[in-house]
Amino acid sequence: SAGGPLQGVTKRYVGSAVAVQHLEAEADYKAVLTREFDSVTPENEMKWGTVEAVRGQYDWSGADAIVAYAKKTGKSVRGHTLVWHSQLPDWVGGLEAAELREVVRDHVKTEAGRYRGKIRAWDVVNEAFNEDGTRRPTVFQEKLGDGYIADALRWAHQADPKAKLYINDYNIEGLNPKSDATYELVRSLKRQGVPIHGVGIQAHLSLMYGFPSGMKENIARFAALGLDVAITEADVRIPLPVTPEKLAAQADYFGQVWDACHAVKRCVEFTTWGFTDRHSWVPDVFPGEGAACLFDENLVPKPAYARLNHHGPRP
Ligand code: G3I
Repeated sequence: SAGGPLQGVTKRYVGSAVAVQHLEAEADYKAVLTREFDSVTPENEMKWGTVEAVRGQYDWSGADAIVAYAKKTGKSVRGHTLVWHSQLPDWVGGLEAAELREVVRDHVKTEAGRYRGKIRAWDVVNEAFNEDGTRRPTVFQEKLGDGYIADALRWAHQADPKAKLYINDYNIEGLNPKSDATYELVRSLKRQGVPIHGVGIQAHLSLMYGFPSGMKENIARFAALGLDVAITEADVRIPLPVTPEKLAAQADYFGQVWDACHAVKRCVEFTTWGFTDRHSWVPDVFPGEGAACLFDENLVPKPAYARLNHHGPRP
């Protein structure tokens, strides 16, 4: 990887989610993304609801634009996401099992195939578990059964044999029933020879819920299975208003995630879910919380940025 200013001493991909509309409309947004990060994850542009909202009518414009930007700037791309119950077009939800299976296979093969050789890692299956570790009752789980995850991984591997294939989830940062279930799943997939290469830990944290316990141990147990680990969507929500004390606590949370990743050799990526408080999914979903990113609305680095960057040379 090229290594932006956030690159630490020990080489890991340091990435951000990117939204194509801002990349194209805001020169300052683009400049900071280009300067600071060496990996990008399309925030919405590769989701099924974006690329095939109407059956058979594909719109790859946003995804293509981000992949082209990455090529031009020498950045690595994390693909997000092939099989997810959210942002799923209505027409998919209504299909019966046999047809649904064909459609999922075609979708995975079409999308992973289109970007073959251009995606370092794919979030193949996103958010498959409930908090108690049972399978989330999505349309895929209900109609196709447990095997849909192995199927999706095999299809993605056929379409892009060099891409690292991940399952990705939130609230699996620490040791808990959901991360236990994820661990059991990936262990069993590995044992069966299913092409699974990594576990994506989203790391959407909030100062209101405390820091997850056992994060380093959790990352280490996935690595011990022979898998890579990536921090895929890190952010730390602040209950508003922002104060200097809360910014310091946010820096500590980001720093703990960064350190947990850097403590395990196979934790290969640290990606944040956007980089500026100017654009964030948080206030829409969690009213009263916000300011979750490393840079403020004016793209000024916050204390959390300094906390991550102390490992490496300053810009
Ligand atoms: O593009 C339409 C626009 O045309 C319309 O006018 C507008 C009105 O609501 O909606 C726009 O679509 C929105 C889209 O983001 C693009 O901005 C959707 O409503 C909105 O639901 C969607 O939210 C995204 C969310 O995933 C969907 O579940 C967020 O941007 C995105 O940050 C968020 O990302 C997820 C990861 O994929 C998975 N992990 C959790 C993470 C945070 O929720």
